[in-house]
Amino acid sequence: MSAFDEETDFSAIVRADLKEEDAQDNSLRPQFLSDFLGQESVKKNLFTFIQAAKLREEPLDHLLLIGPPGLGKTTLAQITAHELGVDFKVTSAPALDKPKDLAGILSTITPRTVFFIDEIHRLKPAIEEMLYIAMEDYELDWIIGQGAAARTVRIPIPPFTLVGATTKAGSVSSPLRSRFGFIPRFEFYTQTELASIIRRSAGILDVKIDDEAAMLLAKCCRGTPRVANRVLRRMRDFAQVEGQNNITVQIVEKGLERLEIDSLGLEKYDREILLSVIKNYGGGPVGAETLAISIGEAQDTLEDYYEPYLIQCGLIQRTPRGRMVTQKAYEHLGLEMKNETGGQGSLF
Ligand SMILES: Nc1ncnc2c1ncn2[C@@H]1O[C@H](COP(=O)(O)OP(=O)(O)OP(=O)(O)O)[C@@H](O)[C@H]1O
Ligand SMILES: [Mg+2]
Repeated sequence: MSAFDEETDFSAIVRADLKEEDAQDNSLRPQFLSDFLGQESVKKNLFTFIQAAKLREEPLDHLLLIGPPGLGKTTLAQITAHELGVDFKVTSAPALDKPKDLAGILSTITPRTVFFIDEIHRLKPAIEEMLYIAMEDYELDWIIGQGAAARTVRIPIPPFTLVGATTKAGSVSSPLRSRFGFIPRFEFYTQTELASIIRRSAGILDVKIDDEAAMLLAKCCRGTPRVANRVLRRMRDFAQVEGQNNITVQIVEKGLERLEIDSLGLEKYDREILLSVIKNYGGGPVGAETLAISIGEAQDTLEDYYEPYLIQCGLIQRTPRGRMVTQKAYEHLGLEMKNETGGQGSLF
């Protein structure tokens, strides 16, 4: 039996917001800036700031990394620590439940540590307030005693660099945001950048991939390195089961078909979103909440993962009244655009 005949549901395999496979295989994560491909302007600036901080023997200014899932925010945070030659501490906002959780970490770090908080838009207010003082003064406000006898003491902590990451820039409060010195935004990667990432990963995974095959794969991985690596692993599986040493264009073409990834890199769910807007809401506008319910996904998943790429492809537009599909979406799905009054008719 050919590898392409099995009946398996691959719909969740390429989801860039699911990270399990990264944890299994950390070997693909670049360790230094020179291995981090793409995001040129972010990289160039960061390199300068790192050099300057090293020359001054000071901690690097706090960084806020913004961008959709799987574009390399955690990777860049880790690289920053490596390049600075300092410790790297990782946590995520939902894991910081009480002020003592944050105090516990910050009071035990070594000087100039890179302290990474993932999903920083989800910090609880009490913890966020504590972080303001820690970021500005390298001190912690700590309450001792109870009731009328309670008083606040300031405990000094080692100077450190906070690196926050978020997929939801709009949900980071402005007092927190204003305390970061550099706030780079990650862009989706270009096809050429992704092809380089794929070739690098193939080298690490010890699998050969033809240049043309790498370019084709790069076109279909949503501008996202996490998806590129994941789809590459699947292509390696297909090649292996087919008894081939190389990942060829034919393997990639058949493999993408098996994974139900189309020429724009859309998966089944992306197409369902577009179809739902067209069939159930006359092309839009439709609110994100309603749309999420109609496709059975969480609103966060729709907004953070699916939509940015659909918008980037020019298939969906965000309007004040809701989401609307574009003419390109109809063309991509091979559907006729009805020119009714209201609904999408008013857009074009
Ligand atoms: N610029 C890059 N060059 C090479 N590989 C990369 C690059 N960016 C990311 N990767 C690969 O993609 C994977 C996902 O990246 P990472 O975990 O840093 O994304 P993220 O932005 O933190 O995502 P999330 O928002 O879901 O936490 C990494 O394990 C790494 O292997
Ligand atoms: Mg991350």
